[in-house]
Amino acid sequence: MDKRKIVVTSALPYANGDIHIGHLVEYLQTDFWVRFQKMRGPDCTYVCADDTHGTPIMIRARKEGRAPEDLIAEMHARHSRDFADFQIAFDNYYSTNSPENKAFCEDIYAKLDRGGALLREKVAQLWCPQCGMFLPDRFVKGTCPHCGKEEQYGDSCEHCSATYSPSELKDAHCATCGCRALETRETEHILFDLAKFKEYLRAWLPDHTQADVANKLQEWFGEDQTLLPWDISRDAPYFGFEIPGYPGKYFYVWLDAPVGYLASLKNWCGRNGTTFEATWGDPATERYHFIGKDIVRFHCLFWPAMLHAAGYQGPSKVFVHGFLTVNGEKMSKSRGTFVSARTYLDHLDPAFLRYYYACKINNTTDDIDLNLDDFAQRVNSDLVGKITNLASRGAQMLGRKFDGRLGSLDDEGRALLAASRGRADAIAALYEARKFSQVPVEVCRLADAANEYFDRHAPWKAIKEDPESVRPVLTTVLNLFRQLAIYLAPILPGYAKKAAALFGEDGFTWESLGRTLENAPIGAYEYLATRVDPKAVEAMVEASKPPAPPAAEPGKYAGPQHGPSANPAAGEAAPAAQSGTDRAVGGHTCPPKAPIQIGAFDACDLRVGRVESCRPVEKSKKLVRFELDCGPLGHRTIFSGIRSAYPDPSVLDGKQVVFVANLAPREMKGVGVSEGMVLCAGDPATGLAVLAPLSPVAPGDPAT
Ligand code: MSP
Ligand code: ZN
Repeated sequence: MDKRKIVVTSALPYANGDIHIGHLVEYLQTDFWVRFQKMRGPDCTYVCADDTHGTPIMIRARKEGRAPEDLIAEMHARHSRDFADFQIAFDNYYSTNSPENKAFCEDIYAKLDRGGALLREKVAQLWCPQCGMFLPDRFVKGTCPHCGKEEQYGDSCEHCSATYSPSELKDAHCATCGCRALETRETEHILFDLAKFKEYLRAWLPDHTQADVANKLQEWFGEDQTLLPWDISRDAPYFGFEIPGYPGKYFYVWLDAPVGYLASLKNWCGRNGTTFEATWGDPATERYHFIGKDIVRFHCLFWPAMLHAAGYQGPSKVFVHGFLTVNGEKMSKSRGTFVSARTYLDHLDPAFLRYYYACKINNTTDDIDLNLDDFAQRVNSDLVGKITNLASRGAQMLGRKFDGRLGSLDDEGRALLAASRGRADAIAALYEARKFSQVPVEVCRLADAANEYFDRHAPWKAIKEDPESVRPVLTTVLNLFRQLAIYLAPILPGYAKKAAALFGEDGFTWESLGRTLENAPIGAYEYLATRVDPKAVEAMVEASKPPAPPAAEPGKYAGPQHGPSANPAAGEAAPAAQSGTDRAVGGHTCPPKAPIQIGAFDACDLRVGRVESCRPVEKSKKLVRFELDCGPLGHRTIFSGIRSAYPDPSVLDGKQVVFVANLAPREMKGVGVSEGMVLCAGDPATGLAVLAPLSPVAPGDPAT
């Protein structure tokens, strides 16, 4: 049989947020599968990339006063580090903002156009004069036209589940800036005529994804159903690729995102002596996408139809998985269960999560639950107590009493090893079918047998009576352990690597299972896995909770503010912009203040400073410390409670800011003296921004 050629992808994570333990459900299972394939030999390439385009990235970059390219470069580095530290081994981790992606998008677009698969339509869309942009549905908020619930998104009501278009909202306003004077403007959009591919998709679906996914999608294919055209264009300003021949129009991010799979692969091919045509383009290649159930529409309707229409190979299979819950509930910031990959790594060994997810993930679309008590218990009792214990007991005794030299197997040992080896095909089939949760079950069953054998021979007793009778027992147990480590290698690559080193091997392939080690030395025992400390789990949850909302001082307004407003240095009632999925968004609740005379304003000495550095203040969830170059005014240190708006405040380094220079210095409890106040504006619920001069000004110059 010819060698299999396989291309595998995971969905491209959005570049506007950090990787969290929900994402890892996907990247880890893909990694398990890919590592398994690589251990077996097929030529398997795993590619991914950051999904960098679209409105949220553009808005965030604006807010942070930087180019989107700068922001996505930073996020690429953060994502890459998180993935590497979880031992997720992409062959290529690229970006959708790449020349390859642009070229593929343009090629596919031209082919769709030539093939008559595109429609052009005038659509009316809301325009925010303050932001200077057309507003996507999710960037409009207002009162639900059906149930009257306030502050609902422009596409659907979270309260009554009604769906509508943004123009039907009452009191529609821009979710970014709060502007209520929205205009309706006409603009031409380009749409993909999905209905043309109804029959193609109807036939395609059953063989290309799980049955429940295909069945669910078949609901769209009834006689009386029409597949609506899919809007693939967006108007400037937009961060993405401009559509050839349509200045000011851009490909919608969901058009260029899946094309990013092809671009990442092509980029890899160029550096690895092969071509896109010989990989994705070869009909003999197997092409697999791993995705979550929230993005099925894009991968099982638009994407295959688009590829088909443009004359490209489509995916062989789309593997859909469910969502992560933690302790039986949706991940939640306030409960501290919205855990970022980095926060997890700060507290726990990535191998634990890899092992636990493997215990839970299978080939269905069911949600998977990370129960934190069960997590600690399962890792401790199975991975540490059953499996690792074989190695630590066996290797340490062999090292201490037998010069670390394996002997020969006895008959019983030979039989046990053969029985364990006999599970190889069954375990391989489980991996192949993505029934990962069954693998630890199989491995634990074998570990139980090995432990039973070990305990029955009680080498700690026998060693006193007949030491040489013990060597075959340890030889058996260590060979058994070695097999279990091979079985687990796709799930626990770091662990397997250390296990291999114990036996003087570089690493394991599936063929390593065929080897038996006798009359050979083993290396020194290095720890393989420690126990999960429940305290570390608690600390991780604590660290994932949002900073406590600032306490209001009596008589002082501490709620969300609107419009340009000074953000007092921390210690006072600083409004903290809370980010999170379960936050209550404030809106326009800032009461107007009483009028003041010009003199009151004039008393404020506003100056420009250059940020030498801006850093989080340890021990504080709110505060950042500005070191400012204030020109002739010298150097100032200013504390400000804006950490939630600038999780990485170093983005402000080198920027110019406006500050109140004559505010009486103020002792900030436990952190130092604040010598002024940096000005911010914005709605604290949706994000604050530091005020900066539009063009450079000499530090120390007055700002009025
Ligand atoms: N950028 C799009 C995908 C474009 S693919 C051409 C996207 N990004 S995402 O960052 O929101 O999600 C990336 C993947 O992680 C998706 O497959 C998504 O389903 C998965 N998950 C994100 N949160 C998840 C959980 N809480 N649980 C399980 N998987 C989740 O969608
Ligand atoms: Zn706006």
